[in-house]
Amino acid sequence: MRSVGIVGIGSYVPENIVTNKDFEQFLDTNDEWIISRTGIKQRHIAPKDMPVSELCYQAGLKALEDAQIAPEEVDLIIVATITPDYAFPATACLVADRLGARNAAGFDLEAGCSGFIYGVVTGSQFIATGMYKTVLVIGGETLSKVLNWKDRSTCILFGDGAGAAVLQPVKEGFGFLGFELGSDGSGGALLSQPAGGSMYPASLETVEKNLHTLQMEGKEVYKFAVRVMGEVSVKVLKNADLKIEDVDLLIPHQANIRIVDAAVRRLGISPDKVVVNLDKYGNMSAASIPVALDETFKSGRIAEGDIIVMAGFGTGLTWGACVLKW
Ligand code: ACO
Repeated sequence: MRSVGIVGIGSYVPENIVTNKDFEQFLDTNDEWIISRTGIKQRHIAPKDMPVSELCYQAGLKALEDAQIAPEEVDLIIVATITPDYAFPATACLVADRLGARNAAGFDLEAGCSGFIYGVVTGSQFIATGMYKTVLVIGGETLSKVLNWKDRSTCILFGDGAGAAVLQPVKEGFGFLGFELGSDGSGGALLSQPAGGSMYPASLETVEKNLHTLQMEGKEVYKFAVRVMGEVSVKVLKNADLKIEDVDLLIPHQANIRIVDAAVRRLGISPDKVVVNLDKYGNMSAASIPVALDETFKSGRIAEGDIIVMAGFGTGLTWGACVLKW
């Protein structure tokens, strides 16, 4: 098996910022409640005419430029998203077309906020086995398009964005050292967009009942997240034969500062090794981790040889983590 690593990264968020104060204009909420319960101060929201493929294209382009790889060299594009442009065709195919990646296969992968982890784990298998040399993995979301903007318990949580990573073979001993994935469909109803699929096809009734918007049992998802974030991080380190002291950086899914803090306490990792940017972006689902990775790298906080753990949880329910040596 070949060693596989990240050789280029990029991210993109739409310009438009919505602050907590902005919500006060049309919702019974306030800045203090949102910050104390979530840690979120603002989020970027895509304009109505900007689909997720545009965000993914911009992030993908930057990642390819960072890796100095031409689009024609890409063998496979995986887009992790729960807010694709269409039910079909796949957003990955649209992004490949925009990029000019005419030799690439493409498919979408749906694992909610764990999507980027699922994406890099999936993409790296093709390279490890020698089937492909270059895989572009993009986590992109426009959750703003499927939110109920009258539901204060959900719409304040999310933001739009995309982050991308180019995977290629790397020096032995570097790159991905281990991963851990899991799912539990019995919790599927805790976080879903119920209508528009084959269970509840679109109808006037589904629209009237708001079933095309994100529905969440926040408290239950919170309990699940606190439990699973610690567990999956412990397991991924065990899989890679590493200890928490070996970790230089933890990049957790950016859903809620209280969930991050609970995971940090559980793991006993020093908070200065933990990346937090949810105050600026809110929960960008599959985009959260790659945007945080990109920002952290560009800020000069990652050095060659650093051990990085990325861990997420999301709708499905799903969870996933991977550990890599940069
Ligand atoms: N502003 C003011 N009050 C609010 C707001 C708001 N925006 N939202 C809810 N409230 C009220 C509630 O109505 C409730 O009022 P009541 O006591 O009169 O009934 C009160 O605040 C407390 O509400 P709770 O739901 O108990 O608040 P909680 O502390 O649980 O925080 C939250 C809610 C932030 C949603 C939390 O449960 C959470 O973060 N859950 C996890 C969500 C998550 O991470 N989801 C992403 C999953 S990843 C993916 O795949 C997309």
